[in-house]
Amino acid sequence: MLSVSDNELLTRVGPGTPMGNLMREYWIPACLSSELKSDGEPMRLLLLGEQLIAFRDTDGRVGIMEHRCPHRCASLFFGRNEEGGLRCVYHGWKFDVEGNCLDMPNVPPAQDFKDRIKAKAYKVVERNGIIWTYMGKRQSAPPPMYTIEILALPDEDRFTRVHQRECNWFQSLEGDIDTSHFGFLHIGGLKMEDVDPKTIHKWGVGDRAPDYKSTETEWGTMYAAYRPAEPGQFYYRFAHFLFPFITFTPNGSFEDQIACTFNVPMDDTHTMTYNLAWKQKTRPLETLANGDWIPGLQPDGKYLPNTTDWYGRHRLEARRDNDYFIDREKQKHENYTGIQGIGRQDQAAVECMGEIVDRSLEHLAPSDRMIMITRRRLIAAAEALRDKGEVPPTVDNPDLCRRARGGAFVAPTSVDWLAAYAQHLQTADSPLGLLNRLPMAAE
Ligand code: FES
Ligand SMILES: [Fe+2]
Repeated sequence: MLSVSDNELLTRVGPGTPMGNLMREYWIPACLSSELKSDGEPMRLLLLGEQLIAFRDTDGRVGIMEHRCPHRCASLFFGRNEEGGLRCVYHGWKFDVEGNCLDMPNVPPAQDFKDRIKAKAYKVVERNGIIWTYMGKRQSAPPPMYTIEILALPDEDRFTRVHQRECNWFQSLEGDIDTSHFGFLHIGGLKMEDVDPKTIHKWGVGDRAPDYKSTETEWGTMYAAYRPAEPGQFYYRFAHFLFPFITFTPNGSFEDQIACTFNVPMDDTHTMTYNLAWKQKTRPLETLANGDWIPGLQPDGKYLPNTTDWYGRHRLEARRDNDYFIDREKQKHENYTGIQGIGRQDQAAVECMGEIVDRSLEHLAPSDRMIMITRRRLIAAAEALRDKGEVPPTVDNPDLCRRARGGAFVAPTSVDWLAAYAQHLQTADSPLGLLNRLPMAAE
């Protein structure tokens, strides 16, 4: 459980909050490149509780700025995106992507003061098919971008999937590091004999109550769930939390599991998740021995049409107000939840707790240790920033993230879990050679 005050500190991300300030030290995925067209429609964008406008100018440059015009606060959403800037339709003031006021046409030239007006605009970079923004204090010299292997792959080698969740960002993130749910929510009805006897993941199907190891790392936290495999061996599933809102999940083979998820807070009660994965990574456990989908796991992620509303983008059709299309007959006879698709099942689980779960009501188990240490690590980092001005982990040295890799493997029981992890990093498929260059803190 968590005290009410710690829960507040952990979950609130608006301007001036300790966790919001921590988030603002990092680059934040704002939207997809494909969502903004040159001289196209400006887009409402909600990030860390701030109502912003994103637009792409005539030259293809992207601006992200406060949505209210600096003149009399009309929303720039209604602006005309034209000839190198966004023009407010109320009185015609025009701004470039950096927030400079280019034109003040309702003021006589002799009284023009456009040089003294600046819209609040945030630093932007565009790469990986994503528009990234930096909302912190170092606008003139922002910190370096993340060093995460999936981001270094060529764009054509990567899947990117975005969807919105109607719950707090950390609730969404906790779902990613709560490995214990996999054996129930997703494959609760599955038996070991149903799956390919050659897959190592059968050990996870046969034992739903593994032991756990977990530790703080330079980039955040990590855990391994482990259970007996062949005599003298453990089947391990490793996963990570990376500051400030990133997870590497364990679903798939460690050797080629190049993937990550960003849980980006839109505000305190809405989260945009970005799932990025290497197209060539092996599939996680999702089929039966005969090649059919495991019941309930066939993806079914239909989206609602986007709207221009603050909450109008990347919404799944299956949602809270239709109970995620739960099918009680299927729940009885076919799959554990009666909900179709891993994404929907996860969404239902993290949203049904309420928008911001009251963690003082919990009774955590040993299987929740990763969640406990991740909360502690985040709260400590937010407090250290607030009380001592301490720059949070990896902001200035993102290279530390190079040693993070999620996924499953089998290793001898005689080898320590971190030693087994280090050994597997040596042989992991790393087309970009990003791994193995930096020692771990424990080494
Ligand atoms: S409110 Fe935007 S120009 Fe007046
Ligand atoms: Fe899940």
